[in-house]
Amino acid sequence: MRLPSELRAAEYPLLADRILRFKQQRNAIILVHNYQLPEVQDIADVLGDSLGLSQHAARTDADVIVFCGVHFMAETAAVLCPDKIVLLPEPESGCPMADMITPPQLEALKAAHPGVPVITYVNSSAEIKAMSDYCCTSANAVRVLQAVDADEVLFVPDRWLASYAARFTDKKVHWHEGFCPTHHRILPEHIERLKHDHPDAVVVCHPECRADVVDLADAVESTTGICSFVGRSDAQEFIIATEVGLIYRLERENPGKRFYCPSYVAVCPNMKMNTLENVLSALETLAPRITVPDDIARRAHRAIDRMLELV
Ligand code: 13P
Ligand code: SF4
Repeated sequence: MRLPSELRAAEYPLLADRILRFKQQRNAIILVHNYQLPEVQDIADVLGDSLGLSQHAARTDADVIVFCGVHFMAETAAVLCPDKIVLLPEPESGCPMADMITPPQLEALKAAHPGVPVITYVNSSAEIKAMSDYCCTSANAVRVLQAVDADEVLFVPDRWLASYAARFTDKKVHWHEGFCPTHHRILPEHIERLKHDHPDAVVVCHPECRADVVDLADAVESTTGICSFVGRSDAQEFIIATEVGLIYRLERENPGKRFYCPSYVAVCPNMKMNTLENVLSALETLAPRITVPDDIARRAHRAIDRMLELV
């Protein structure tokens, strides 16, 4: 699947060449999230989900990290690699779900549930992570929730990831009412219609989907988890309930298998803001740079480390 940017496709080899040259000069690495534009996926050194990309950031010996994703992802890389230059080609590419919980809101939640540990989805600001006990990602939320030594937890900001993880534990989970507007557009009737038209297709969904969509899925996985599941599966047809950008990687890695999108309006506009042009400009100018104040970074790092110790 190609997105509208293909209109400029003729310029891509030229831009990709210049990006490669600057990347070498800067000793840079390009980390790309699975929802990015196809041409940006094509220049990735590493393509992955939030967890995989942050782990890669933590162990790279590059001096510069160009993070093609949204703001919280680059911020997480800056927390994990305080000595490196972390660039986000389009600084306005935020995550609306991450913005749904503010420090005063989390303060109020904690005050209402004193002593209850806080698990925070990585789709959140560094400030929110710094106020949390544990982080989790879509790839490990179930395991983190199971492993936390408490009968009750607070889970922010995604109510759907929280309610999905809560299916696998007896713990009382108090979740915040945040959600991903993109995944929210995928409805059960979209899945039902595709299942009717393609009865052999396997339904794989991201845990940010609504509970009534998750109920219809054969597997629930992070974005990279979806790619691994499809790669291992003997099935030939898949209904992929997540942001449409993942289809490009799935088609490239699985020639012959067929993929159906429940809703072509399940697009995350922020994920499409990084382009070859602004990646090149970031490498040329070493801007826009993402930094996190030391004190916040230290406390956010602790919540991320505690996640990694648990799972
Ligand atoms: P993944 O960690 O599964 O890639 O998800 C990140 C995200 O923002 C999904 O909307
Ligand atoms: Fe945020 Fe949803 Fe976009 Fe992921 S797809 S970055 S959760 S708005």
